[in-house]
Amino acid sequence: MGADPSRIIFANTVKPAWHINFAAKAGVATLTFDNEEELYKIQALYPSAKLVIRIRCDASSAQCVLGMKFGVEVDDAFSLLETARALGLDVVGVSFHVGSGCSDPPVFQRAIQAARGLFDAAKRIGFEFTLLDIGGGFPGNKDSSLDNIADVVNSALKEFFPVGCGVRVIAEPGRFYVASAYTLATLIHSKRRVKNKDGTFSFMYYINDGIYGSFNCLKYDHAVVTPIPLKRSKANKEPAIGTIWGPTCDGEDQVTGPLMLPELEIGDWFVFENMGAYTLPISCGFNGMPVPKVNAFADEKTLLELKNIRALNKEK
Ligand SMILES: Cc1ncc(COP(=O)(O)O)c(C=O)c1O
Repeated sequence: MGADPSRIIFANTVKPAWHINFAAKAGVATLTFDNEEELYKIQALYPSAKLVIRIRCDASSAQCVLGMKFGVEVDDAFSLLETARALGLDVVGVSFHVGSGCSDPPVFQRAIQAARGLFDAAKRIGFEFTLLDIGGGFPGNKDSSLDNIADVVNSALKEFFPVGCGVRVIAEPGRFYVASAYTLATLIHSKRRVKNKDGTFSFMYYINDGIYGSFNCLKYDHAVVTPIPLKRSKANKEPAIGTIWGPTCDGEDQVTGPLMLPELEIGDWFVFENMGAYTLPISCGFNGMPVPKVNAFADEKTLLELKNIRALNKEK
């Protein structure tokens, strides 16, 4: 994308050796770690790296918890720093990720406070930390707001890392940038009418995307999706209970429902907003079903701005 390697942080705490070698070759010097074995690897492969210790501080509630896999417990962090020191490695700061889709803004206060404690402890063994990385966890849907988290982060920084303290603060927003950028349009290609016990009917709609495509987010991102019916057919029928299914042979391949929907026909569409995060990159073509095609739409002003971005120009 044209970013200078010095501005990139390799934020996987458990890296295959060949990834560390690649980072070294590419000049990506800032790497995170959260365990002793990783330190031995880095010492052997990339001893001049600038290291960032990732601590664990989990939100009480998040869409995707990450702490069970990444981040050293705060109580164990100091001894890990002592090991880094003994190995002659250069640790330059602290990072954390409170969990993706965080709905516990005060966790940022707890995490920033814990980071401050570690900055101070590190100083006692000769490290002079200059980087605080507050990770991700920020909301990204159309109707969401960053304000609650921003308020907590700003006041915690003011208290623990005031302006002028010589610490650079960065974040790693993912969902925040991309969730609302993608809207998924799915076609109803088949429909089944099912007789209920009370004599009424409900409907099963089969669409051309499912859990092996964009809707893998239902499994892996614990997402909840909302269908917006787009009716091309003219017939004005009563709403009825409907379920929406993906296109593969898997019985688990259900997108949503049962829920009340206007009765739709084959050839109508369901539109899903906020489908930009943790969707397409994880999809596969199971059963030969193609993964969704991306069409870009932008107003003229945005398009002009985008044209100035190097990666897009290169693609042309
Ligand atoms: C190390 C790291 N940084 C940043 C992110 C982005 O997180 P989010 O989408 O919650 O902003 C992730 C997501 O898993 C991550 O693992």
